[in-house]
Amino acid sequence: MSPFALTRTLPVDATAAALRADVAAGLGAAPKWLPPKWFYDARGSELFEEITRLPEYYPTRAEREILAARAPEIAAASGARTLVELGSGSSEKTRLLLDALPDLRAYVPVDVSSSALELAGQALLAERPGLTVHALVADFQQALALPRTPGPRLVVFLGGTIGNLLPAERAHFLAAVRTLLEPDDALLLGTDLVKEEATLLAAYDDAAGVTAAFNKNVLSVLNRELGADFQPADFDHVAHWDAEREWIEMRLRARSAVTAKIPALDLAVSFAAGEELRTEVSAKFRRAGVSTELAAAGLALRQWWTDGADRFALSLATPAG
Ligand code: AVJ
Repeated sequence: MSPFALTRTLPVDATAAALRADVAAGLGAAPKWLPPKWFYDARGSELFEEITRLPEYYPTRAEREILAARAPEIAAASGARTLVELGSGSSEKTRLLLDALPDLRAYVPVDVSSSALELAGQALLAERPGLTVHALVADFQQALALPRTPGPRLVVFLGGTIGNLLPAERAHFLAAVRTLLEPDDALLLGTDLVKEEATLLAAYDDAAGVTAAFNKNVLSVLNRELGADFQPADFDHVAHWDAEREWIEMRLRARSAVTAKIPALDLAVSFAAGEELRTEVSAKFRRAGVSTELAAAGLALRQWWTDGADRFALSLATPAG
């Protein structure tokens, strides 16, 4: 068998259909919203990579610091022979884990982008002969069927991406992950932590304007994919801290009254001056909350590691009971 296999669980047109459904639902709602997954076309992915290198955007560096320090402990605790990575993206941080897992036989990156998966997989195979890479083109919010690879499995979900899910979606997601785990398997979860408001706002509204460009990129995606005529310059980038719900919201605020046509949906969407479109929720966590959410999904928090400045946490959880 080839050491590289790619399984596609998403029909090729699923993305187009999902985008249409999300845009129709979100731009037809009051207040308006869009799911953050539509930021990530080629340009959006590039802008996100740029964000991770900004002085204000600490989560990537904080998480890498924890992984660099704790990879041996994580590896020893899991004894994993299969590493499943949800939303693998560029998987540069994953390398720290892969290199620490001596018994690893299979790597299963799961991503909606097959190009990201092939790149990550091929690079890895060149370095780790004997490793099987079974890439899975799938949406981690949909039901997953994992390939039959040797256990124990370590399922990792890094970057704080769980914060993009709303509380009910998180509960659903964690319960679905729990069903994938055998008693000896484990989940490694990255979460950004609640901290001073100014630090959070700066991370989502950087001085160089990269996050603003990333936020507005979703309008370019709608223009290209749906033939819409949004003018990104008609909108301001807004980062807002919701202290009650402990999450950051990114929004696009109309600078004046504007109407955009969306031919693919046979729709015209009007914004009043100052009206906002919510494009992302990025929840921030505390240990107690993470532990409670895991427990509600049948998972027990076994280890909790943070970086030196307590900005970000990695949780290791196993099936409860
Ligand atoms: C990739 C989802 C973890 O929420 O911090 C970065 C995305 N949005 N800047 C985050 C993002 C604005 C990022 N995640």
